[in-house]
Amino acid sequence: MKKMRGRVEAPVAELPNMNFLRRNRENDNSRGLRGLRSKTNRPWKTKHRKMYWKPMPFSARREIDAATDRGCRHFPYPAKHIFTNGAPMLWPYKDLLCISQLTAAEILYVFQVARRFAEINTRPVKKVPTLKGKSVILFFVEPSTRTKTSFDIAGKRLSADTYSLAASSSSLRKGENLKDSALTLQAMHPDALVLRHHQSGASEFLARRLSCSVINAGDGWHAHPTQALLDGFTLSEAWGDDMAGKTVLIVGDIAHSRVARSDVLLFTALGARVRICAPRTLLPAGVRQWPVEVFSNLTEACKGVDAVICLRLQLERQKAGLLPDLREYARTYGLGARHLNKANPGVLVMHPGPMNRGVEIDAALADAENSLILDQVSAGVATRMALLFLFLTRKDAADQGDAQSGQAESRQPQSSLLQED
Ligand code: CP
Repeated sequence: MKKMRGRVEAPVAELPNMNFLRRNRENDNSRGLRGLRSKTNRPWKTKHRKMYWKPMPFSARREIDAATDRGCRHFPYPAKHIFTNGAPMLWPYKDLLCISQLTAAEILYVFQVARRFAEINTRPVKKVPTLKGKSVILFFVEPSTRTKTSFDIAGKRLSADTYSLAASSSSLRKGENLKDSALTLQAMHPDALVLRHHQSGASEFLARRLSCSVINAGDGWHAHPTQALLDGFTLSEAWGDDMAGKTVLIVGDIAHSRVARSDVLLFTALGARVRICAPRTLLPAGVRQWPVEVFSNLTEACKGVDAVICLRLQLERQKAGLLPDLREYARTYGLGARHLNKANPGVLVMHPGPMNRGVEIDAALADAENSLILDQVSAGVATRMALLFLFLTRKDAADQGDAQSGQAESRQPQSSLLQED
């Protein structure tokens, strides 16, 4: 550390990557103030768009430039704004229910915020006061290791208070229905409810009835949007955000998989080609309407792919008789190195977990160098930090909080949100 004019400045080598702030400056002419003056280039004025772009205050731009020049790790944001490509986005959603609600730009924006939060996870002190005073209830009616723990860690690293409730220890066991349980939890004034439920549509059902944010952590066969976002974030770290020209293969129990449905939506939104491969009995009804190529031979499906996502056999959701025998399935659809010979060089292997080694994936392949399975878990924490941040600091959440507490002026600006405690 060296002293400069009485202030202690961290040497540049120790600073986090601030390149995206530098890009803001370089892109000034294309998307910055000059662009915003054009009468035809005012997307935030467009009535029916889901994204709201507002011009960055000039003072904020100057502060960011100055902070970038100093190599400052705590760059100043005006309240409620974070910036992307020179323009701030106000997060417009109360709930996260399905990937189909997000535009490609919004998905990339989540990645951009997750990238910022991933850096916090590498600090010696992995805690920032970003969501101090916010509370998040993790209501998991189905078992979970990754999703529940990573939401819990994500909330705690952002200083939110997180409370876990499992079906086995809740009043659902005594016959209370989901709606009454959720209304009871809402009466305790949480800011968000993260819900996993075995019924498709459970999250939407609650989102219509609760005023706090509802984040879908997996509902039946329907959707697992946070898993798809972390899968996309993992691959965007490897490939960059532009996935045009890439081919992603999803193999396994597609019919019963909410991950497959959400991944197909996300990767096609980002421009990748998607293939699915499964025995006929594990293909969903109506698969011909999906924007994918369908294979039943795994070796054929692997030809020319850039990433393979293996899925768990969802035996708990399957009716009897869909598979003749597990060993036969493992021999035919269990991904092994032999299948990847015809894939593109550098092919990446993923699995959302939980993983049955030797069934849907060879044990050795799961631990191979091109396996991103543990990277997905790490990306899960950063992605869920980004999501909690976006949903809990969205414009109407902040306004609602201000109205309740009368603290509009004293709200902590986001300038200090990324500082260590
Ligand atoms: N991928 C996933 O949802 O894992 P968990 O069931 O452990 O949360």
